[in-house]
Amino acid sequence: DTMRCLCPKLFVALVGYFGGGGLGVGRSFWLFFVFLTFSVELIPISCPPLITFPVQLSAKYGPVFTVYFGSKPIVVLCGHEAVKEALVDQAEEFSGRAHMPTVEKNFQGFGVVFANGERWRQLRRFSLTVLRNFGMGKKSIEERIQEEAQFLLEAFRNTKAEPFDPTFFLSRAVSNVICSIVFGDRFDYEDKEFLSLLQMMNESFKEMSTPWSQFYDMYASFLKYFPGPHMKIYYLLEDMRKFIERRVKQNQATLDANSPRDFIDCFLIQMEKEKQNPSSEFNIKNLELTTLNLFFAGTETVSSTLRYGFLLLMKHPEVLGKMHEEIDRVIGQSRIPAIEDRSQMPYTDAVIHEIQRFSDLIPMDVPHIVTRDTQFRGYTIPQGTEIYPMLSTVLRDPSKFKSPESFNPRNFLEETGQFRKNDAFVPFSSGKRICLGEALARMELFLFFTTILQRFTLKPLVAPEDIDTKPREDGFAKIPPFYQLCVVPR
Ligand code: HEM
Repeated sequence: DTMRCLCPKLFVALVGYFGGGGLGVGRSFWLFFVFLTFSVELIPISCPPLITFPVQLSAKYGPVFTVYFGSKPIVVLCGHEAVKEALVDQAEEFSGRAHMPTVEKNFQGFGVVFANGERWRQLRRFSLTVLRNFGMGKKSIEERIQEEAQFLLEAFRNTKAEPFDPTFFLSRAVSNVICSIVFGDRFDYEDKEFLSLLQMMNESFKEMSTPWSQFYDMYASFLKYFPGPHMKIYYLLEDMRKFIERRVKQNQATLDANSPRDFIDCFLIQMEKEKQNPSSEFNIKNLELTTLNLFFAGTETVSSTLRYGFLLLMKHPEVLGKMHEEIDRVIGQSRIPAIEDRSQMPYTDAVIHEIQRFSDLIPMDVPHIVTRDTQFRGYTIPQGTEIYPMLSTVLRDPSKFKSPESFNPRNFLEETGQFRKNDAFVPFSSGKRICLGEALARMELFLFFTTILQRFTLKPLVAPEDIDTKPREDGFAKIPPFYQLCVVPR
């Protein structure tokens, strides 16, 4: 379907470009037309997201099949069993990372997210160690999140229960947690440069998720010579990298090797230690791009989940009411929420899981490759073949969830009301590439949701039944729809 809707655009554009002379129109005009056709959607044809095909194809061909993006074969894995067999049972083989054409020009295989082989192993091990040393999964980062949540409450109070768009309220708070680790400090909410970085992140996440970007991923080798939205993504990410480059220079000028202040300092110290090693992966390029990975992945993911969560809670006021009730009963109003409360709060825990399951942030995972020729379910998959583990189909696997298609916290509750674990809960993926920030993200989601709901209730501007929860973009990420709300003190 995507081909059917995008091919006419491509056809019109190419005929125009190559046949333009015959019509007496210059090529530059047609280049401009090509640009408009793709970037401004001059010929609007509704495009169903790519994600809908594999679901339909797997009904016909089973959970493992190949599709061709142009001439490139992609092995698609659908449902809990197939994804687990690949990412967990054959973890090493399926741990490679594919090129993502939309961001390839920025990363070129550097930085932990897009690295492979020895480079990836070293950057992953180092990043995890440093994040843990700065408190990921521990009391010290819990205190930082609790403190940041208080700043967020203050910002919410200042809205005086008037309607507002929560996007940058949430992203400033969330981002400040990872910023404290990578840059050694939080930013003031009024800081203009901070807000502009967050706008760039939000914009590039959205651009990476449009039908255009999916099409670009299929035909990049040809389309990269044309202008279009992929250029916008490149410049947004490049501006963010330049900001990090400036921060790295500041750190270098003031570095004290005996007391590292942040992730950048730790990396600089490691670079110094390995400077005699010509094959060291600790160089400026990996430093800048890994920092960009952590800053980006540590901001847009958690803040989009909170934003989607608020919308779902307003759509389901009975769920919101039960969360309020549990917060009041277990935590009360006289102290702030802490991580150890989670084990006493099965309902809230189940709702947060259900928000992540239902909002399905990264539906097709970040694409993988197989690291060597791999035998899988009777097929031979040649080394380097791209693999799309469809996390979306695991999170909605009817054999693993009672209500896969609807928003229902009972998907994570026993009949007795206890929390029920489910190994098909894979919003962070699984196996060797599993999200590096999972522990941090889970702490942030629990503490931000409970701290906000302890003090506020969420009021939509329309009746709950009129709230549309369909994502605004559904591609690399599912971007929550635009909305406004009021936060009213309880
Ligand atoms: C709700 C929040 C989040 C979700 C849903 C999420 C999801 C994901 C997913 C699906 C992947 C790809 C895994 C794969 O390749 O199979 C990933 C990778 C990654 N995430 Fe997250 N993430 C979240 C939060 C975070 C945070 C807070 C950080 C910051 C520390 C982070 C850092 C990373 C990094 C560095 C990778 C690349 C890992 C690698 O390639 O080895 N993520 N995440």
